[in-house]
Amino acid sequence: MAGTKEPGAMTREMAMVHKGFVREFFLMPDLVKGVSDGDRERAALVAEHIGMMSFGLHHHHQAEDVGIWPRLLDRAPEEVRPLVHGMENQHERIAASLENLTKEIAAWRVDPTSENRDAVSRTLDELLPVLGGHLGEEVESILPIIERHISGDEWDATFDAGLSQMPPESLPLVMGLVMYEGDPLAVQDSLNNLPSEIREAVAEAAPKAYGDYAERLYGTRTPPRGSTLR
Ligand SMILES: [Fe+2]
Repeated sequence: MAGTKEPGAMTREMAMVHKGFVREFFLMPDLVKGVSDGDRERAALVAEHIGMMSFGLHHHHQAEDVGIWPRLLDRAPEEVRPLVHGMENQHERIAASLENLTKEIAAWRVDPTSENRDAVSRTLDELLPVLGGHLGEEVESILPIIERHISGDEWDATFDAGLSQMPPESLPLVMGLVMYEGDPLAVQDSLNNLPSEIREAVAEAAPKAYGDYAERLYGTRTPPRGSTLR
């Protein structure tokens, strides 16, 4: 049937994306704490990273809120209602923290004092337990239901829309970031979703783009994996 995916494909893809979020967000507290009072350059680099990840997470959640939850509520209301409402509540709490984070990183960049840095740290401390629980629960509880009720075309349209909002020059980095600890089949699936004319170039550039980025940010091309951090 058109628009179907092989069983487990959506779960693999979501797990790959969530691992990227877990790794990058759970590495943030040490990154932030490692910036010295007055180190404008380093504060800007770390703030930029937090901003990019927050933007990605916000759009990922928006895609689910618009493209996934309403369809599940429509197609399997009894089964999903409490789960979906739980997901929506978690999205709201996470959105509130991301909004604070956005303001705090802006203030920190302008004035990289330890007070402004500590405000960022406090919001991360609030956000991470909610985010870690949410990303795990979504894959464990909702993905099995998504596999039964959402078509492959709907899935691809939902998450491709997120990717298409990214500036094209960011694509190798974003793909490299999710591919870093993604299941190889999930990596292939998401590469297949890219326009054919750029697919090969992005696949080739992605690991290097993420490696270069991680080296600048973390001082290593191979940062710890998300599964060791949560
Ligand atoms: Fe998700």
